[in-house]
Parts: sequence; structure tokens; C-alpha cells
Amino acid sequence: MITVSRKAHFNSAHRLYREDWDDAQNLKVFGKCSYPNYHGHNYNLVVSVTGEINPETGFVINLKDLSDIIKQHVEEKLDHKNLNLDVPEFKGLIPTAENIAVVIWNILREKIDKKLLLKIVLYETERNFVEYSGA
Ligand code: NI
Repeated sequence: MITVSRKAHFNSAHRLYREDWDDAQNLKVFGKCSYPNYHGHNYNLVVSVTGEINPETGFVINLKDLSDIIKQHVEEKLDHKNLNLDVPEFKGLIPTAENIAVVIWNILREKIDKKLLLKIVLYETERNFVEYSGA
């Protein structure tokens, strides 16, 4: 088994809050990320695909194909969007890095050969990142 990875990037706005909490409670739990007028992050994404090398091509997955899948189904959907307002997956789901990672993973899982393992790492800042591989 061998792993290949592709990096991608998108900018999105979000706000972390619960409607059923008041502003003070939201501020206490979510800090600055709860400010009412939204704020942006420069998200970096690393998508890793693990499998056997196809003896015919020498590839685990064609990285051009993987790049196109990420561009079409993740970047187009999230880049320069307000995650709370513009992206249906976040209706009723707080757009934390954790939840964004799960949403991205679910989208990509549908598009990549089931024989291949899929893991993503999502950086919300240089120092804060989450990892998800479906379990
Ligand atoms: Ni934030």
C-alpha cells in the first residue's frame, strides 16, 4: 500500500454559534469565532489516497483526476463562500473545522474508487488542523 496526496486551498467565511444560546454563552464557548458579522479563514486541505499501485499506470490514483475532483466538488462549493449562509450542508451544522472536514470527506468519498482509502487533513490556521478518515 502506498499513499499519494494532493494539497488544495480555499477561503471561506463562517461564524460559530448556536441559535439556542445567547450571545454571552456563544462568546464564552466559541470566542471571537462567534462574532455576529462573520470572519474568514484561509483553509488548506491535504487529501491523501492510499491503495495499491496499478501495474498498468504506475499510479494509485491519477493526481490530475484527484485535483479535478477536489477543484470541482470542494473548491467550487466552498471557496469565497459564507459557509453558514451559502452552503446547504451547514444548515443546522456548526461550521467548525471538524464539521467542515467531515463534509469534505463525505463529498470526496463519493467520487473516489471505493478500493482506495481516503484521509483528509484540514488546516484552519497554520497551527490548528483536523484529520478525518471516515471513522
Ligand atoms: Ni473562525
